[in-house]
Amino acid sequence: MNSDEVQLIKKTWEIPVATPTDSGAAILMQLFTRYPSNLEKFPFRDVPLEELSGNSRFRAHAGRIIRVFDESIQVLGQDGDLQKLDEIWTKVATTHIPRQISKESYNQLKGIILEILTAACSLNESQAAVWAKLLDHIYDIIFKAIDDDGNAK
Ligand code: HEM
Repeated sequence: MNSDEVQLIKKTWEIPVATPTDSGAAILMQLFTRYPSNLEKFPFRDVPLEELSGNSRFRAHAGRIIRVFDESIQVLGQDGDLQKLDEIWTKVATTHIPRQISKESYNQLKGIILEILTAACSLNESQAAVWAKLLDHIYDIIFKAIDDDGNAK
C-alpha cells in the first residue's frame, strides 16, 4: 500500500470513526438483516432485530469491530505496520475460532463493511478499490490463522 493509499484510508476513516458504535451498529444490523444465520452465534440471538440497536452486547460488538479497525488504520504507515496488522488480525481470528465463525460469515461482513464505507464516505470506484485492498490484506491474515488452526471451516 503506497503512501497516497494510506492517506486516503486515514482520511476517509475519520467519518465512520467519529461515531464508532453507531457505525459498527449499522454494519452489524445489515449483516443480521441480510444474513440472519450470523445472529445465531451471539448471546443476543433471541432479541428481535428491531430491538437490537439498544442491546448492550450488540453495541459492544459493534464498537469492538470499529476499535480493531481503528487500531489497524492508526498503525498504517508506521514502521513495522505489516507485522502489527498481522498480530492484530491473527488475534481476532484466534479468539473467534472457538465460536466457529465460517469464512463465508467473514466474507459477508466484508461486503457489508465495504458497502457502508462507500456510502458513508462517498467513495468513488478507485477509492473503494483501495479499501478493498486493505480488507483483502486483513482477510488473508484471518484466513491464514483459521487454516493454520485446522479447526475452523
Ligand atoms: C472481521 C471483523 C471482526 C472483528 C474485528 C471482531 C472483533 C471482536 C472482538 C474484539 C470481540 C470481543 C473479544 C473476543 O471475545 O474475541 C468479538 C466478539 C465476538 N465476535 Fe467478533 N469480530 C469480527 C467478526 C465477527 C464475525 C463475522 C462474527 C460472526 C458472525 C463474530 C462473532 C463474534 C461473537 C459471537 C463474539 C462474542 C460476543 C459476546 O459474547 O457478546 N465476529 N469480536
